[in-house]
Amino acid sequence: MELIATATFGLEAVVKRELIDLGYTILRSEDAKITFEGDEEAIVRTNIWLRCADRVFVKMGEFRAETFTDLFEGVKSLPWEKWIPEDGRIIVNGTSVKSKLFSISDCQKIMKKAIIERLKASYPRDYFPETGPVYNIKMTLLKDVATITIDTSGSGLHKRGYRKADVAAPIKETLAAAMIKLSFWKPGRVLVDPFCGSGTIPIEAAMIGKNIAPGLSRSFISETWPRIEPSLWKKVRAEAFKAIDNDVKLEIYGYDIDPKAISAARVNAVEVGLSDEISFRRAAAKDLEIEEKFSIIITNPPYGERIGEKDEIQKIYKDLNRIMSSDDTKSLYLITADKSFEKAMRFKKCDRRRKLYNGRIETAYYQYYGRKPE
Ligand SMILES: C[S@@+](CC[C@H](N)C(=O)[O-])C[C@H]1O[C@@H](n2cnc3c(N)ncnc32)[C@H](O)[C@@H]1O
Repeated sequence: MELIATATFGLEAVVKRELIDLGYTILRSEDAKITFEGDEEAIVRTNIWLRCADRVFVKMGEFRAETFTDLFEGVKSLPWEKWIPEDGRIIVNGTSVKSKLFSISDCQKIMKKAIIERLKASYPRDYFPETGPVYNIKMTLLKDVATITIDTSGSGLHKRGYRKADVAAPIKETLAAAMIKLSFWKPGRVLVDPFCGSGTIPIEAAMIGKNIAPGLSRSFISETWPRIEPSLWKKVRAEAFKAIDNDVKLEIYGYDIDPKAISAARVNAVEVGLSDEISFRRAAAKDLEIEEKFSIIITNPPYGERIGEKDEIQKIYKDLNRIMSSDDTKSLYLITADKSFEKAMRFKKCDRRRKLYNGRIETAYYQYYGRKPE
């Protein structure tokens, strides 16, 4: 069947690479969605292993829908009985862009009616109690073409389950993982986040370093579906446990000026069982010295948007310039919405810049490559 992994704009190539590494064939990669081929096991495996995708969907079908009749007939023709049991709870949602059908509430009603009509042919009953597993069905109408999917993830894949303590403006776990994947960091090199907040970047790096599957400690909505055997979840989880590299040595450091952030980061690292792998300490950027050669700095500093922060970030950029100028072996990977960053840091021109989104905020990911280790 066709499955779809959705991703934040700008991360399609990273998610595509993750899917290829998991052994799946990519059918299409478009804005924010990657379609690939898979079976029930692929649903389980991708939910448990994808670090940078938002959600995984089953693609039920795609057809032209210019009228409500088209929509009704199109939805009714799809094999819902293969997925939804007699007591399944059906929730329909949708979006419409540049299409003749634009009333989402009407589309929702029509779709639900069509699904029930279809199920009546398989289950000989008039009333469906909807007391069982949940099926979130999504219609995406774009230029009169309806794509119908079922969400297999439930809560977004960024919810790994370890974030028990928060700070203001935490970065999404999926984006933090992508920042690491887009860098040259690997175990054996020192990784530093001087503005670590709740510790997301160091924790995601440690999980990558130890090959810990990001979805190992959480549940997924499709785990309640009768179509996917519980033994499949058990098998893939057991394999993921086995795949953890307990011997790898990591040197990962997180610093922050705020003691509350450092306590939050420590709580989160304990939650994911990585407190021995990461050192979190309170330090202001102005006092930070990174002595280890070939260190990699991956960070998400304040963007300078709050009142009083403008002057503060100028000082931060000066500190980063000092750290980066101390030798030519250090690399810096920094995400910010501050368009003046590159000039304000007064360092060399970045080697690469990528447009990414941190939630709804447009940001850029600046990459400065240090000298390569011999
Ligand atoms: C955008 S937040 C980082 C969020 C983090 N990535 C997370 O996921 O929680 C920026 C952090 O920089 C810290 N910070 C601000 N000024 C600092 C300074 N001069 N030195 C060190 N940390 C600073 C703040 O306390 C805040 O936690």
